Amino acid sequence: MKLLITGGAGFIGSNFVRYWLKNNPEDMITNLDALTYAGNLENLKDLEGSENYRFVKGDICDAALVDGLVKGVDLIVHFAAESHVDRSILGSADFIRTNVEGTRVLLDAAKNNGGVRFHHISTDEVFGALGFDDPKFKEATPYDPRSPYSASKAASDHLVRAYFHTHKLPITISNCSNNYGPYQFPEKLIPLFVTNLVEGKKVPVYGEGKNIRDWIHVDDHNAGVEAIIKRGRVGETYCLGGGNEKTNLQITKAILELMGRGEEMIEYVADRKGHDLRYAIDFGKAKEELGWEPKISFEEGLEATVDWYRGNEDWWRKIKSGEYKDYYDRQYGQKK
Ligand code: NAD
Ligand code: TYD
Repeated sequence: MKLLITGGAGFIGSNFVRYWLKNNPEDMITNLDALTYAGNLENLKDLEGSENYRFVKGDICDAALVDGLVKGVDLIVHFAAESHVDRSILGSADFIRTNVEGTRVLLDAAKNNGGVRFHHISTDEVFGALGFDDPKFKEATPYDPRSPYSASKAASDHLVRAYFHTHKLPITISNCSNNYGPYQFPEKLIPLFVTNLVEGKKVPVYGEGKNIRDWIHVDDHNAGVEAIIKRGRVGETYCLGGGNEKTNLQITKAILELMGRGEEMIEYVADRKGHDLRYAIDFGKAKEELGWEPKISFEEGLEATVDWYRGNEDWWRKIKSGEYKDYYDRQYGQKK
């Protein structure tokens, strides 16, 4: 198969590219990524020069470029997005552009090139926020996004489904919970906290740290995406989750313990605006239909992740200093 991956230089996309080529070495991947602040080619350094992998620097909103890349492709897996809630609170324009318009451009290219199979990567945040005692999100939960990020992802999900109903485009969607693992940009909770502690800095917990997220290791997420691509029913949505509901304070304390630091390293800071209280996923449909369930226990996954950031200081220090942005130019000899 020939695959077009969007956003493959980001956290989940880069893990997916590596995961897919390991399991499907005969396949050919083209990775289209604009290399925004979140895109980092060092995430896929090990694949450079591989015969079955090609990187294209470009924007998913560039219709001519996207149309050219979609020709001859069997499958599109669409990860590219603006992905950080806090940034969407500061300004939502890039979120609407990439997450909504970019998805529209990809869908049109898929439609205009014979109806290319399209898997859309989405989030559980489209369902809104749960109370402590509410039942978990599942596929039938009504959409109720509450941040500009989740609203833009919700819009993209609706568009993807609309192309299935209107144009018979063969799509699937996955709505996954919070991912953790290697190569996550150190603005998100787990990598930010681990790297801050290595640097001797405190960790900023929003509000009282009571908010709950359902954490899944990125490899379990990507195994779920593979299961949907290979065994999922076209037109369907699958919710993927880790079965690991933790408060932010529980996560913080687990990281502090793994790193041998005390609670004096916690700094309680102003809460996020409109901070969603709880996310949790019922992944029963994926389990029943696809035989998928997460395999990596949170304790094991978190320890391995903390070790990864401790062992890859060079990777995240370049990000925190901004130096990683030059990698493309050094590698491809082009000016920005
Ligand atoms: P990320 O921010 O680490 O990576 C996003 C990638 O998309 C970057 O490489 C960036 O350069 C690229 N990109 C952004 N705008 C682009 C554009 N206009 N054209 C081409 N490339 C562009 O994000 P992530 O955490 O890896 O998330 C990937 C996908 O998974 C997103 O769609 C996100 O909504 C979804 N998701 C993330 C999580 C999570 O916990 N991180 C959970 C569920 C779903
Ligand atoms: P984040 O990793 O940004 O993911 P999301 O907002 O998409 O769930 O945040 C996870 C949780 O951690 C969320 O409840 C906000 C909280 N948080 C902090 O308390 N401090 C921080 O510095 C960050 C980045 C997040």
